[in-house]
Amino acid sequence: MGLFQQLYGWLGAWIIIFWSIIKFFLPAQKKSLAGEIVLVTGAGSGIGRLMSINFAKLGSTLVIWDINKDGADETVKQITDLGGQAHSYRCDVTKKDEVYRLAKQVKNDVGDVTILVNNAGIVAGRRFLDCPDELVERTMEVNAMSIFWTLKAFLPSMVAKNHGHLVTVASMAGTFGSPFLVEYCASKFAAVGVHEALTAELSDLEINGVQTTLVQPFFIATGMFDGVKTGDIPMLEPDYVADKVVHAVQVNQRQLCIPKIMYFIAYFKTWMPVNAYIFLAKATNSYRTMDNYTGREKKAT
Ligand SMILES: *[C@@H]1O[C@H](CO)[C@@H](O)[C@H](O)[C@H]1NC(C)=O
Repeated sequence: MGLFQQLYGWLGAWIIIFWSIIKFFLPAQKKSLAGEIVLVTGAGSGIGRLMSINFAKLGSTLVIWDINKDGADETVKQITDLGGQAHSYRCDVTKKDEVYRLAKQVKNDVGDVTILVNNAGIVAGRRFLDCPDELVERTMEVNAMSIFWTLKAFLPSMVAKNHGHLVTVASMAGTFGSPFLVEYCASKFAAVGVHEALTAELSDLEINGVQTTLVQPFFIATGMFDGVKTGDIPMLEPDYVADKVVHAVQVNQRQLCIPKIMYFIAYFKTWMPVNAYIFLAKATNSYRTMDNYTGREKKAT
């Protein structure tokens, strides 16, 4: 690699860094989401539902996917009550044939999906050796494998039109490994990897009309994490997260960590020795977060 390319690369990178800092202080240009067809997986509850409602308020047509049809129908009802447009489908995103079949049906019923929000997620919330094989597989399939199938189903029409947006709702667990979350962290690291590599590939192919946004929240106070007790950093309100995600889509933000402190914690990890990082986590009680985890299912019993 020649010296000229090295200089060109570094100069360009620094210009983009300074430009990003300036942009941070300027009011962001928002793109219109009116007329977009937005598919959200796991939209029958939690932030999936809240994000869907926000997109609908901005004039998008929603495609609501959830394994729980009643939840999906309820989301559609809340959107239509607000005067928005939405269609619900029962979909098990882990079954790729079902994903492909329903994708065809969505194309016929609604049209080409232009914004894909991979949001469906589950967690076992147990010590790894207490976690049955089925739960390990289930988490990997829902949180990670399903992203491949929805991308295969909906990315081609976005690429053909050079227009679209891919949103991956991962987690800070996609950057840090934590106790009680071994299978969950594995699935979220995978989701982050898929997202990052595909973002690179779209850029390599100069498909610049297809935007990507990676979302990495800290614990959100939905039923999914009932019983979690965080320390100095409070759990996130679902409404707040949904607002942030939709805003990130409007301004084509590449990465969204919530709360902002997470950007710094992620940075520390890049240079601290592992033992220093673990010491810090233990000293701040970070590993106690999941001690009294109950989650949605266990709470019902
Ligand atoms: C979990 O519950 C036990 C028993 O109620 C309590 O003693 C402990 O402090 C709780 N742990 C956390 C991290 O809140």
